Parts: sequence; C-alpha cells; structure tokens
Amino acid sequence: MEYRELGTSGVKVSVVTFGAWAIGGWMWGGQDEEQAIRALQTAMELGITTIDTAAVYGFGASEELVAKAVGKNRDRVQILTKYGLRWDRPGEGTLRFDTTDNEGRPLQVMRNSRPDSVIEECERSLRRLRTDHIDLYQCHWPDPTTPIAETMGAVEMLIRQGKVRAAGVSNYTTAQMAEAHAVVPLAASQPPFSMVNRAAEKDILPWCIEHKVAVIPYSPLQRGLLTGKITPGYQFGPGDHRASNPFFKPDNIRKVNALLDELRPIAAAHKATLAQLVIQWTIRRPGITSALVGARNERQATENAGALNFALDAEETARIDELLDGLTLDL
Ligand SMILES: NC(=O)c1ccc[n+]([C@@H]2O[C@H](COP(=O)([O-])OP(=O)(O)OC[C@H]3O[C@@H](n4cnc5c(N)ncnc54)[C@H](OP(=O)(O)O)[C@@H]3O)[C@@H](O)[C@H]2O)c1
Repeated sequence: MEYRELGTSGVKVSVVTFGAWAIGGWMWGGQDEEQAIRALQTAMELGITTIDTAAVYGFGASEELVAKAVGKNRDRVQILTKYGLRWDRPGEGTLRFDTTDNEGRPLQVMRNSRPDSVIEECERSLRRLRTDHIDLYQCHWPDPTTPIAETMGAVEMLIRQGKVRAAGVSNYTTAQMAEAHAVVPLAASQPPFSMVNRAAEKDILPWCIEHKVAVIPYSPLQRGLLTGKITPGYQFGPGDHRASNPFFKPDNIRKVNALLDELRPIAAAHKATLAQLVIQWTIRRPGITSALVGARNERQATENAGALNFALDAEETARIDELLDGLTLDL
C-alpha cells in the first residue's frame, strides 16, 4: 500500500480508502452486518488504513459498523466522516430528497450545515464512532441556505477543540471551495470521479492542485459498473438505487462494456482484474490523492486492495486515455 498526505494537514491516508456507504445498507438494498465487518477488517489487514463514512449512511449504521470493525485499532486508522445531510431534524434546512430508512419507513433527507447543527452532528458521530476525534470532517453537500463561512467557522472551532483534525468538503464547486478555504484551510475535496465520469478534471482538480488541497474521488468503480459484472438486463435487488441511476441505462451499460472489452487485455497483461485496473488508473491521475472505493464483502475488499500490486506503463495509460476520450454516455 502507499500513503499520501491530505493537502498540508499532516493527515496521511492510504491511496485506496474504504468507502463505507454501501455497508450502511441505505440505497444499496440492505447489507449483512457480519460481511460488512469482515470487508472492513480485511481491508485494514491489507494496508487500507483510511475509511470514509457519513452520518447519513444507513442513518448512523455505517458509522457504528466502522466503530465495531476498527475496535482497538483506532490509532492505526484514519476516519473520514461527513455532516450536513440530516434525517433527524424534519423540516429544517433545504430538501435534498425523499427516501425511506432501512426498515422502509419514509423520511426526508435535508441539507443542513448551520453551525449549531454541525456541532451537534459532530458529537453524535463521535459517539457512534466511539472515538474522541475525526481525522477529516467533510461537508457532504453544500447547503444553499447557510453561508459557507458560518459552517466553516463551526468546523474551525471543532478543530481548535481537538475533535476534528482537518476540514474537507464534498460536492462543492470551486467557488464554494474558495469561500470555505478562506475561513479554514481545506485538506481535501471529495467530488465524483471515475473513468466514465471525468467532469472534475475541468475545474475541481486544477483548483485543488493549485491550492494544495487533496482530491479524494468517490464512486471510482462507477458503483460497480466498471468491474465488468453489470451487463444489459442486470437485475438490481429491491432498494438498490442503481436501478434508476442514469449510468445504468441499458445503452450506457452496453457502451461501458464495449470499453471494458478493450481494457481487458491490458488488465490481463498484469494478471489484474478490471476493478484493479480501474483503481490503479484512478490513483495515478494527476491531483488524485486517494480513491474512495466501496466494498460489500471480503472478496471485493481483497480484490480492491490488490490494485496496488502492479503499475501501468506510459503507453498503456495513453491507450486507456485514448479509449476514454472516445466514449460519450447518455446521462
Ligand atoms: N460524498 C458523496 O456524495 C458520496 C457519494 C457516493 C459515494 N461516496 C463515498 O465513496 C465511496 C465509494 O463510492 P461508491 O460506493 O458509490 O461506488 P464505487 O466504489 O464505485 O462502487 C462500490 C460498489 O461496487 C461494487 N464492487 C466494489 N468492488 C467490487 C469488486 N471488486 N468486484 C465487483 N463489484 C465490486 C459493490 O457493490 P455491489 O456488490 O452491490 O455491486 C460496491 O458497493 C462510498 O462508499 C462513499 O464513502 C461519497
């Protein structure tokens, strides 16, 4: 495994971070707790020291699972979590979406990054994570009704109190990042980014490189699509959000699989799987610090950690980039 610093924060992370959204069950059709804990512990055994979660993942369930899996190894891992999406303060903030909890009860997720809410969320996350500090505390989605300076003022206070080591943001534009960075030095930005979703290359990545802010992209496997296992007609289980996600429209699945057919020989030359090739490509992109990769079981965690066992040469990388430049999806 390789380790890199989040900006200039002093927080060192593994270049593959364990993404703990799916193991919270919510929007992924549920999750078996024992398998989730094995997935996390396997990742840690293989050198993945960094875990990305959020209060809203499984409405607290993901953070609690992380605490269970980490157990006595807290000092050996970096826990990145998020605030700003609340399900437990109905009617306050801006509606993000209507959803159901893991038991199927309807609820509304609200964007809320008011300072008092951030402080309350931090206490709750610390309790669920059974820790006294969060290594990176990230705003999950911008809250248009709260001035960014006020939100970041609260985070700055949490840093001074030692409850948070570094500040991060997710789904922020460059203008929003600049506003935040003026109040508290940002250690990391978390945008969506994958071989087939490269919008962040236009502005987020250049801005972060210029300002020495780490980029820790989410969904680098495009939620499983880039592993090659999803073919037209694939049936997602009940409650799995991918059934209505535009990347999984039949025509996009067909186009992505045609791309993957071209990538297979490159992966095979390194005795690597497609998932490993995709992760290796992602962590070598200029400006990328660590790829946040979700895994639901021990097998996936082992495979994903294996992405560090080989390297792509310049010719292979150029060939991959050429193939990607020729791809247009209907989103
Ligand atoms: N800030 C945000 O708004 C935001 C949004 C999304 C994600 N994130 C973060 O980023 C992390 C990763 O993103 P993601 O979970 O959306 O997508 P991802 O990492 O692209 O895909 C993860 C999913 O792909 C499948 N998978 C993973 N490894 C596999 C393998 N080796 N072989 C076959 N299938 C495999 C698993 O689902 P199945 O087995 O069910 O197919 C897994 O849940 C999240 O866990 C979360 O921490 C943040």
